[in-house]
Amino acid sequence: MCGIIGYVGPRPQRDVLLGGLKRLEYRGYDSAGLAVQSGERLRIVKAAGKIRELEARSADLDLSGTVGIGHTRWATHGVPNDINAHPHTGRVGRIALVHNGIIENYQTLRTLLEKRGNVFRTETDTEVLAHLVEEYLENGHDHPLEEAVRLALLEVEGAYGIAVIDSHSPGRLVAARRGSPLVLGIGEGEFFVGSDASAFAEYTREIIYLNDDEMAILGPDGYLVKNLENVELSPEVQRLEWELDRIEKGGFEHFMLKEIHEQPETLVDAMRGRVNPETGEVKLGGLQDVQGLLARCDRVIISACGTSWHAALIGERLIEEFARIPVEVEYASEFRYADPVFTPGTVVFVISQSGETADTLAALRLAREQEVPVLGIVNVVGSTIARETLAGVYIHAGPEIGVASTKAFTSQVTVLSQIAVLMGRLRGTLDTTRAREVLSEIVHLPAKVRQILEQADGMRDFATEFSGVGNALYLGRGYNFPVALEGALKLKEISYIHAEGYPAAEMKHGPIALIDQDMPVVVLAPGDSVYDKVVSNIEEIRARRGRVYAVATEDDDRIAALADRVVYIPRTLDCFYPLLAVVPLQLLAYHMAVQRGCDVDQPRNLAKSVTVE
Ligand code: AGP
Repeated sequence: MCGIIGYVGPRPQRDVLLGGLKRLEYRGYDSAGLAVQSGERLRIVKAAGKIRELEARSADLDLSGTVGIGHTRWATHGVPNDINAHPHTGRVGRIALVHNGIIENYQTLRTLLEKRGNVFRTETDTEVLAHLVEEYLENGHDHPLEEAVRLALLEVEGAYGIAVIDSHSPGRLVAARRGSPLVLGIGEGEFFVGSDASAFAEYTREIIYLNDDEMAILGPDGYLVKNLENVELSPEVQRLEWELDRIEKGGFEHFMLKEIHEQPETLVDAMRGRVNPETGEVKLGGLQDVQGLLARCDRVIISACGTSWHAALIGERLIEEFARIPVEVEYASEFRYADPVFTPGTVVFVISQSGETADTLAALRLAREQEVPVLGIVNVVGSTIARETLAGVYIHAGPEIGVASTKAFTSQVTVLSQIAVLMGRLRGTLDTTRAREVLSEIVHLPAKVRQILEQADGMRDFATEFSGVGNALYLGRGYNFPVALEGALKLKEISYIHAEGYPAAEMKHGPIALIDQDMPVVVLAPGDSVYDKVVSNIEEIRARRGRVYAVATEDDDRIAALADRVVYIPRTLDCFYPLLAVVPLQLLAYHMAVQRGCDVDQPRNLAKSVTVE
């Protein structure tokens, strides 16, 4: 939820810390801070608001030093202000500590520490940990920093990714994680730690992913990784895959717009080397070892959150259509506390762009604890969910910086389509002819998305016509009902307009009461098997003078006669209309947000990776 960076080395701390925090800002952006140690001096600077506030506040300060840490916040405990911003320190102010996660037993620890004379300055859960560490450094304990941190962490319940520096331990930084992501960057005589590698990718591409209950000690002379039982570990140093320009805006005004326009390429990347339209075969290397399982299983559960949950709903239809196996889709946040019933033949899929979403991770662990095979569909390589699943498929969408997920959604659906075809082939429920037809069409989708993006400017005018609305309804049927949900979510999360997605036929059972000349209704009406039904639904809305904005298949005059405005998309197979129909909805939400002056890439109250429950 928050972003953490730490650096040990000769470069100017200001550049590395502030530069890194800007790259991590999508993780949380309500307040920020940094601390630099030079000799026995610790300089801490904090500011409410975006990184630019911190930059301004520290502009004239001497931030020279050999080790430093930084933090950008998504508040969980304590309002976003200068005091609650990180870093935090303990009773004597000897250390600085930044934290991503939630200390669940902080109230208990706080009461204990207050009884021992500690005075708290903030409302945060994190400050408790700072006081604990200082207790193990002071009071005659005299432990080295890493040991004080380790002992303090043994008292903590909850999730954390932390970085700590100590005015009495020159040039030393200690980091540790449980539940929240942390990556080490290994440079020539310099070392980095970050919530993700984008924080320091411009300096090194040699990285180490820390696992749960592991800590790292970085110093001028090298690094050490060990677990909380003090056992030294020798983790593998991996090489970062993606190029730096993938985390730049590339001339677009916002990351979200860039990522929408990247979809023709990311769709190709999501199926590169995986589909063979000639033979009708799909090859997913990450599922090679579990093909037997996919052929034998008799029930599939897909669990996820937010946009990934919408992709799961489309996956449900795809797998049921091609593999003829029952599929259930579960909100991970509900599933994890639902004591679900797992039958022997069950396979669980978890879907996550970031691979760090706490609820989805918990759903994964719940199933795994009951020895149910869990497979992943993930974007971030090396993320916790990717490492904890039995097997899985990377969607290869590249870094997604905009908080509102766009290219990850279409790549998730593209991968789900391939998994459905693979399972259909393995189970003999999908014949070669049909498989070839489906795969021959999937390879044409990138070009069809590019065609839609050529109308992108039209969506700006569409948004202008739409602007001023306070509410909106999105309707779809079949494969496109989840697209209605996704379109509504995009509008909500970046333009702050209340919107609801609904199965079009459900209107009659209540929501149609909302329809009048002020209620805009976005209807997904491509030329698929339920087209005529959707047309009747549009007529029901027209009969109540509702305003209809339709997404229809090219050359559809019937819809043109019924709707106030139509966006046309190319013809495709029923199962692939979601991949085309969602693009105009992404653009509509984008332009609405821009026209309302909203912060498109960093919408209020949100964060890109929800690492707390
Ligand atoms: C979507 O635009 C949102 N950012 C959010 O709903 C997101 O999809 C959800 O938090 C799940 O994230 P994940 O795919 O990284 O697990």
